Amino acid sequence: MSEHIRVMLPEEEIESRIKELGEEISRDYKGEEVYLIGVLRGAAFFTCELAKRITVPVTLDFLSTSSYGSGTVSSGNVKLKQDVEISPEGKNVIIAEDIIDSGNTLCYLSKLFKDRKAKSVKLCAMLDKPDRREVDVSLDYKGFTIPDEFVVGYGLDYDQKYRNLPYIGIISFDDQ
Ligand code: IMP
Ligand code: MG
Repeated sequence: MSEHIRVMLPEEEIESRIKELGEEISRDYKGEEVYLIGVLRGAAFFTCELAKRITVPVTLDFLSTSSYGSGTVSSGNVKLKQDVEISPEGKNVIIAEDIIDSGNTLCYLSKLFKDRKAKSVKLCAMLDKPDRREVDVSLDYKGFTIPDEFVVGYGLDYDQKYRNLPYIGIISFDDQ
């Protein structure tokens, strides 16, 4: 089986949109601080690029949840694999995800940080695949809305590969 990747969003387009998101967040939290939490590993690049574009004070942390394994279909059963190190209590939490698909991951994380008594919890995703939503969860900040295609690059993987591509591309498979 061979894999093909077609560019969907070039690096410049991704980063100029992240800059806009950073400006929006900076305006919304003027006079406050944010606790930006990236969901590893997919959101690593997005979270770091976003953090650079926020002008209010940022505390940066990461967590990881259970992933897709080697397939392309979510299990719906989210688990926390690695927790943050800094307490979210009383903080303005923003959770940064690479992509919202079924919505299960962000729904789970939103509830988790509300239960942990964050002052506020907002959800931010670089990509949104609305066609595949299973749970009702709304994003506060969104990079791009994309069609129902499996994408890789800029942190996103297929079977742990292609995270390092500087662009986002649609992966397709053909067996020969
Ligand atoms: P959700 O819980 O179904 O919303 O899925 C969120 C997670 O699924 C993301 O953090 C990604 O790791 C993974 N995911 C969903 N769609 C894609 C995709 O097109 N490419 C790579 N990973 C994806
Ligand atoms: Mg992810």
